[in-house]
Amino acid sequence: MPDVLPITEDSIEQAVAILKNGGLIGLPTETVYGLATDATDGEAVAGIFAVKNRPTFNPLISHVTGLEMAKAHARFSPLAEAFAEAFWPGPLTLVLPKRRESAIHPLVTASLDTIAIRAPGHSAARQVLHRFGRPIAAPSANPSGKLSPTRARHVADGLRDAVSLILDGGPCAIGLESTVLEIRGERAHLLREGAVTREDLEEASGAPLLEADERIRSPGQLLAHYAPDAPLRLNATTPTDDEFMIGFGLIDGDAMLSSSGNLQEAAKNLFDCLAEANAAGTAAIAVAPIPEKGLGRAINDRLRRAATGSQASP
Ligand code: TXA
Ligand code: MG
Repeated sequence: MPDVLPITEDSIEQAVAILKNGGLIGLPTETVYGLATDATDGEAVAGIFAVKNRPTFNPLISHVTGLEMAKAHARFSPLAEAFAEAFWPGPLTLVLPKRRESAIHPLVTASLDTIAIRAPGHSAARQVLHRFGRPIAAPSANPSGKLSPTRARHVADGLRDAVSLILDGGPCAIGLESTVLEIRGERAHLLREGAVTREDLEEASGAPLLEADERIRSPGQLLAHYAPDAPLRLNATTPTDDEFMIGFGLIDGDAMLSSSGNLQEAAKNLFDCLAEANAAGTAAIAVAPIPEKGLGRAINDRLRRAATGSQASP
């Protein structure tokens, strides 16, 4: 099993040394844990796809220290820059035209002419990025199609010896993957809902967002995702005898997303509750209704995918 180390000067040094050697590490961010490697090292990046069993047509996010590093790899329109200034460091990924001269390996971007890029807010991730000095490619640190990890333990359980070191930054403060926004000129298309909500983005830009359509869509959003081991039933108010119930607000459960009906708390607990339901080993899982507003939309997006994934799996 991998070393799971608390965040210290020493563990950060060790993590950076592994990255410099073309290795993989488990890296905490404010959203979910990432499986991180040098974005400019093709062999290292190939390792990520192998370990996750991820199709190579599904591109990765490049993590940077901030706007300055990002501009060496992506072209920022004024709108893109305004979003970065408003939400970085933080849980917003921008999909932008990739610079031809960027040293980021084409495997990272699945040879697209766009690049997904974000500056994470978690202090451990920031320290690693600053000391490493180059972009870090990092998808969520789970086998492809499985629940995203929000604790170091989830990473160790899911990836085992595929990583030698996991930095333990505690439970992720947000618990859902970043919002993904594609900017084409002065138009913004929402590709994945996340902690930065549609309302936040529209307020920052002063204009409505456009939906992703057939032509503009994240390859990853087309795939089955977040499959728990048992079928998942949504909008449940009363569990049947063989269901593990995940509650919210006034609807009680075996595990609670948030007893007070707080959406932020629910987002933070979502993958943890689903992991707990998996561990309980019941024949089925049920989850209480979540209001479809603000952060609730991102939670419902993950739940709908989890429900589809669980039915699709054998
Ligand atoms: O919060 C997060 O975003 C976490 C942490 C570790 O930063 N990372 C994460 O990575 O969720 P991943 O690989 O699980 O999701 C990245 C998403 C995928 O849906 C992928 O298809 C999309 O971003 N994506 C990456 N590059 C893209 C591009 N050039 N165009 C459109 N979508 C892209
Ligand atoms: Mg993922």
